[in-house]
Amino acid sequence: MLIATTLAQIQNALAQTRKQGKTIGFVPTMGALHEGHLSLLRRAKKENHVCILSIFINPTQFGPNEDFTKYPRDKKKDVLLAKKENIDIIFYPSEKIMYPPGYLTYIEVTKLSDVLCGRTRPGHFKGVTTVIAKLLNIVRPQTMYLGEKDAQQCVILKHLVKDLNFATKVIACPTVRETDGLAMSSRNKYLSSTERKEATVLYSSLTLAKNEIKRGLRDAMKIRYLIEQNIRTLSRGEIDYVACVNAENLEPLTEIKGHVLIAVAARWGTTRLIDNVSISVK
Ligand code: PAJ
Repeated sequence: MLIATTLAQIQNALAQTRKQGKTIGFVPTMGALHEGHLSLLRRAKKENHVCILSIFINPTQFGPNEDFTKYPRDKKKDVLLAKKENIDIIFYPSEKIMYPPGYLTYIEVTKLSDVLCGRTRPGHFKGVTTVIAKLLNIVRPQTMYLGEKDAQQCVILKHLVKDLNFATKVIACPTVRETDGLAMSSRNKYLSSTERKEATVLYSSLTLAKNEIKRGLRDAMKIRYLIEQNIRTLSRGEIDYVACVNAENLEPLTEIKGHVLIAVAARWGTTRLIDNVSISVK
């Protein structure tokens, strides 16, 4: 396994790969790898000749009062996990390589970046789209694998790839959960044991809502109310948003119809968690 830290290293390795006519599957991450990340790596490995993992805690996607400095960093463990998965190349750039002094260029997917998480985290998706545009230019993969856990990120990055004509296919992979339903996330580490127990309310509320839809409920406001009430009754989590939106364009729905994304964000102390489910309704 090659750990490439410079642009020359990654580009030389990739030039070889391309010369040999091999396909490249790419999984961008911020490290602190867990089973969610590993599921993407396994899929990329299965569907491509070469699998590339990038680990870069991207400063531009963190707000000034967010957790950039305390975001979990464990290079040793990440490298071990990647080795175990037979990953071919880890791209592990420094901040100086990605954003050298005098860096000025940012990429923004408008509209989609302003709703849901974009409302509470202004500038967050601009940071995500900027770093992914850069990584796609560096790696030029056939396919990039993302997690549905970050549904809005998937929608935005699919748009980025389409709008900027990147020759990369984007595949969204299912959310991997703990046995009690909590979506795996590097940020779960911040939760106290009580908060950790309470946080299961996110997925149980989403599941409850999905079951109501299956039983015929179509009023988006009622669905949102049901989720909000459930979270408030069963936990001390502070709700950021509960939304029923069109899964492709993230526009809010009044009636549950078509491909629907039900998304929530809530905070326990300073730890902000997100989760979502989707459902197709005729
Ligand atoms: P990070 O949070 O490290 O996540 C990397 C990838 O793993 C994302 O595509 C995310 O959706 C996916 N992922 C996280 N938890 C998952 C889970 N429980 N099940 C399935 N997939 C999961 O998302 C980012 O990093 C960054 O914003 C990034 C795209 C790397 C840009 O900096």
